[in-house]
Amino acid sequence: MPESIFPKDFLWGGAVAANQVEGAWNVAGKGLSVADVALYKPNVDVKNYKAHVAITSQAIQEAMDDQTDTYYPKRRGVDFYHRYEEDIDLFAEMGFKALRLSIAWTRLFPTGKEQTANPEGIDFYKRVFAKLRSVNIEPIVTLSHYEMPLYLAVSNNGWVDREVIDDFVRFCNACYDNFPEVKYWLTFNEVDSIVRHPFTTAGIIPDKCEEGKELETIYRALHHQLLASAIVTRDLHTKLPEAKMGCMLTKLETYARTCAPEDVELTFKKNLDNHFYTDVQVFGEYPRLILRRMDLEGIDLNIQPGDLDIMKENTVDFVTFSYYMSMTESADPDAERTPGNTVLGVKNPYLPSTDWGWQIDPKGLKISLLELYDRYKKPLMIVENGMGAKDILEEDGTIHDLYRIDYFRAHFEQMREAVNEGVDLIGYTSWGCIDLVSASTSQMSKRYGFIYVDADDEGNGTYDRFKKDSFYWYQKVIRTNGLDLN
Ligand code: BG6
Repeated sequence: MPESIFPKDFLWGGAVAANQVEGAWNVAGKGLSVADVALYKPNVDVKNYKAHVAITSQAIQEAMDDQTDTYYPKRRGVDFYHRYEEDIDLFAEMGFKALRLSIAWTRLFPTGKEQTANPEGIDFYKRVFAKLRSVNIEPIVTLSHYEMPLYLAVSNNGWVDREVIDDFVRFCNACYDNFPEVKYWLTFNEVDSIVRHPFTTAGIIPDKCEEGKELETIYRALHHQLLASAIVTRDLHTKLPEAKMGCMLTKLETYARTCAPEDVELTFKKNLDNHFYTDVQVFGEYPRLILRRMDLEGIDLNIQPGDLDIMKENTVDFVTFSYYMSMTESADPDAERTPGNTVLGVKNPYLPSTDWGWQIDPKGLKISLLELYDRYKKPLMIVENGMGAKDILEEDGTIHDLYRIDYFRAHFEQMREAVNEGVDLIGYTSWGCIDLVSASTSQMSKRYGFIYVDADDEGNGTYDRFKKDSFYWYQKVIRTNGLDLN
């Protein structure tokens, strides 16, 4: 049998986020998070992601007044809070080496302002980590995955307020103190997404921002997150020297629609913009072209003395990213556009799309790997990848998701090529390894998992778990360390 190109200790696994799987939104002292007020909007076109993530102070108030979970699906997730043992056993059965999950800030610090962590929240994650340990699954923990305390959003306008840095640092340190066995940590999920959905990512409520200053407000909040990221990296390295900190980017690989220089320039700038967040976290400084662009746009980041030194001295150990689709750019204002992961790109005639309009592009994953490794020269981990689709649960409990297997196979082939060509890829965790609530549309019916959860968009169903055909396929992939993709 030929040798696998993937390293022997390659971290095959899956990824979830607390707010999309746990449910149990109001038990054991948990506070409300921004995810708990995300409204499921059944009548809005799923391709109109902007309308799905839109938020106002009034909508938040209405959500707070509503104690049900029917139209707030992230309140119920897929009940991982009560079923984590069964779910982790299923992950172990697939052969997972790693599980990426997040710790809900509001389980530990219900409003974000408490000075000590809620023991019931700590206890829950201790049990989860113990269960993972018992089946030899390595946890990869995201510290912030679209679930900051709602209180901080409402009272401080989220990350706009510099004070929130201290609140986050207190939360992270409580995590390090209580879960020292975790070796892999990530600061902010898709840190770049703050410009696309500032409320989901950073608790910024648009109607609380000064008119005309919305973009500057978002970039200032971003600066706070990047600074916080450096501070908690420093704290991790001090407290747990064996542990590693990673950053996390939405990799939005963009191609020029044509070789017209205007298209190429626009595309170059798109990619520059996509990389700048990771540039800061890896190189410890803002790219000069980005700073100049902000200058030209009249944006002042309000950097305080000492901030840049902290950022320079505390950079990440490895680079992680999500990859779902690629985009195309064109200077032609009439070019037909299609949505991707909360972005709108120009349609690429060479690529098929999912029902949500996301363009499927396995080659783009390889290009991303080569590009990111060449740029950062740090170990890489793909911590999200997958295909949202409507699955059919047959009467006999089977789910024949050949389309998902095809998607993964094509992406793994490209990963294999990239590793062969020299990329230091240390792990792969597919997104939503068990069906979960969609981040953008709050749908349950947009499924990513190898494991089907019997629940619909309004929360009806048994919540029982069923193994899809892809479950057995991924099991074989892991068993052969990526050799057998048939
Ligand atoms: C990523 C997020 O952007 O995409 C996840 O980190 C999200 O939280 C995933 O679920 C897929 O997006 P969606 O909108 O299909 O859930």
